Amino acid sequence: MARSTESGLPIRPVYGPENLAGWDPADRLGTPGSFPFTRGIHPTMYTGRPWTMRQYAGFGTAAESNARYRQLIEHGGHGLSVAFDLPTQMGHDSDAPLASGEVGKVGVAVDSVEDMRELFAGIPLGEVSTSMTINAPAAVLLLLYQLVAEEQGVPGDRLTGTVQNDVLKEYIARGTYIFPPKPSLRLTADIFAYCRTELPRWNTISVSGYHMAEAGASPAQEVAFTLADAVEYVRTAVAAGMAVDDFAPRISFFFVARTTLLEEVAKFRAARRIWARIMRDEFGAHDPKSQMLRFHTQTAGVQLTAQQPEVNLARVTVQALAAVLGGTQSLHTNSFDEALALPSDKAARLALRTQQVLAYETDVPATVDPFAGSYVVESLTDELEFAALELMDEVEGRGGAVAAIEQGFQKAEIERNAYRVAQETERGERVVVGVNRFRLDEEEHYEPLRVDPAIETRQRERLARLRAERDGTAVAAALDVLRDAARDPSRNVLPPLKEALRARATVGEVCGALRDVWGSHTPAEAL
Ligand code: 3HC
Repeated sequence: MARSTESGLPIRPVYGPENLAGWDPADRLGTPGSFPFTRGIHPTMYTGRPWTMRQYAGFGTAAESNARYRQLIEHGGHGLSVAFDLPTQMGHDSDAPLASGEVGKVGVAVDSVEDMRELFAGIPLGEVSTSMTINAPAAVLLLLYQLVAEEQGVPGDRLTGTVQNDVLKEYIARGTYIFPPKPSLRLTADIFAYCRTELPRWNTISVSGYHMAEAGASPAQEVAFTLADAVEYVRTAVAAGMAVDDFAPRISFFFVARTTLLEEVAKFRAARRIWARIMRDEFGAHDPKSQMLRFHTQTAGVQLTAQQPEVNLARVTVQALAAVLGGTQSLHTNSFDEALALPSDKAARLALRTQQVLAYETDVPATVDPFAGSYVVESLTDELEFAALELMDEVEGRGGAVAAIEQGFQKAEIERNAYRVAQETERGERVVVGVNRFRLDEEEHYEPLRVDPAIETRQRERLARLRAERDGTAVAAALDVLRDAARDPSRNVLPPLKEALRARATVGEVCGALRDVWGSHTPAEAL
């Protein structure tokens, strides 16, 4: 039976020169490190420096997450990647009624500068690069990080890292939005402008396809909807008066890596070529750094199984290999037990070791873009580029990413694809080893990591002490100044936001002040 790829493209049993007839390597490939960067963004890629092994981690209190970060650094991890709990991601304090039951659960609870200080205790912020998976309140957590770095004596121009800061995909697939699209985009542009002067080495956004892929998007949809979001952010910053080469070099991306390795390698290569051309031809970017699509990859969590969980070690290895063959700059490998619970220490270590085997035992990092010139991968790269561009035109035809989101377009397209995949699995046409074939009669018991429910109580007590000890009058005054800035579209809200946080206003209080002015986005508006 002729197979098709995840994007619905034909995948032929045999490829040959006829599949690349008229194919011009000069136009399609370029050389590594040069426009259109199909072969990678650096001339030497991993022969110059391996990708960053950046394991996403965080749970419980700041002290517990700090211990895991130190462990990851000790085991050879290069970069940090902070997972925040849902109350923090939604701009609520741990003692808010809405936070009940979620404090410290899917990530670390950060309510104030005191928690951020504890989260990075003993970690020199001038020497690590830290990614923070935070979107609607990205400005808040970024400023808390900068305040702690200042306490360590680290100036802003030495801080490196990334805030995800991609709210558009939250409306489409992840849900941790706070404000309506317009003020959210203003806040994104304010972060771009603030970082340009205060934190010049900081990556201001990680435009994400990962969560849309996890929600069911095909590789073509993942590339198209992510790049369409990125176009919306660039347009917003240009409309706010910024010159494209002043902020675009600090835009980064985040994609998934599936087990369908060949299409995934083609996906990454096509995405780089599309982005390079958009930035040069639509936005007139001259700086090559504005044209380079730099990205982080996480292996596909949705492909992990709870059944025979150790089999996930094989899946993650293939997925990680796809990311490396595709030229990722940074990589997170999922732990084999994540379909069951938060990763255990052993599973987290094995996930990192998987990357180390690829980096130090294989010959893949020894040469740049090994699939270049491959009949199948170059054919798939071209076909994926075409499919993604067609979808981007559909989004553009609806008025751009925000307009399409408000029409529910991306969400509907992703759900349609998710449904097709679910049906194929149900019918056994799509094999999931251990689930619909090669099953065990009796699953072996696995004792997952559990988060201590007492965390919520301890975090609430910390908050009560902070509120009792701080100067409440100064906090109230700082919050008023913040509201005034939020009302004035010509002002950047980050400076007054930073002063409120320095006075020990909490994450919930500063987000509440912004909600007072901007309101909250309700799902009904998304349709
Ligand atoms: N030749 C020359 N220079 C090179 C090089 C080479 N071969 N390789 C690397 N370098 C340079 C780079 O140019 C860079 O220099 P710069 O600082 O002057 O720009 C430096 O070495 C560091 O390299 P990178 O910037 O490529 O690597 P980083 O790891 O620092 O950054 C990134 C990678 C993708 C740009 C950045 O945005 C990043 O780290 N992103 C991570 C995002 C992340 O971890 N997200 C987690 C999401 S989890 C989530 O969403 C929730 C869950 O539910 C999935």
